[in-house]
Amino acid sequence: MNLTKDLPARLAPACQDLAMSGRPARQAGQIKKIEQFVSSKLNSLDWQHTLQVREIALKLARLEKADQAIVEAAALLHDVGKAKADVFSHAQKGGEMTRAFLESHKFEQRFIEEVICAVVAHDYVRQDKPHLISTLEAKVVADSDTLNNLSAIGIIKAAIYNAQKLQEDFSKTVKEIIAKAEKRSGQLLTRSGQALAKEHLKFVKEFYKKLGA
Ligand SMILES: [Fe+2]
Ligand SMILES: [Fe+2]
Repeated sequence: MNLTKDLPARLAPACQDLAMSGRPARQAGQIKKIEQFVSSKLNSLDWQHTLQVREIALKLARLEKADQAIVEAAALLHDVGKAKADVFSHAQKGGEMTRAFLESHKFEQRFIEEVICAVVAHDYVRQDKPHLISTLEAKVVADSDTLNNLSAIGIIKAAIYNAQKLQEDFSKTVKEIIAKAEKRSGQLLTRSGQALAKEHLKFVKEFYKKLGA
């Protein structure tokens, strides 16, 4: 059964199906191929973010007892869609690119569906629908992405994304960025992610405080 061909409409039920059945075989030896693929697609900033998301994700996967290979692959691939799509559709595009790449490299079908689930679902946080993320591995990847966006690199990403607004009204935009960071810090899905969110938010707020906005 091809669970994720007609995303996004069937995403939530598809991931529910995955969450309720057994684990796929590990594909750890193939991670290097994914790393090379994603690094060739993303710009330098997005690749740096991806590497940091992978690092956090592996730590959370250990703490949450999630499947390390699925988490690592999905963390590496979660933003690959940014190579071909804007922020609003990058997760969907990333799911398509992930399927094409993993299938062409003969990854196990179940592994592919798990990774696509996490890649597409990570965007539910941006959409303020994190409750729709159902598998443990997808939750770990989404939390790792959120935590990295509440860090030094997240501050740079926010500044680039809000560049024009910062030029127009610095103080108002900084307040909006802080408010969004506060909201995101309350949307972590795993216990381990929730435990880290506080110190990440503190770091971000202390940085913005220094701007005197
Ligand atoms: Fe993303
Ligand atoms: Fe990301």
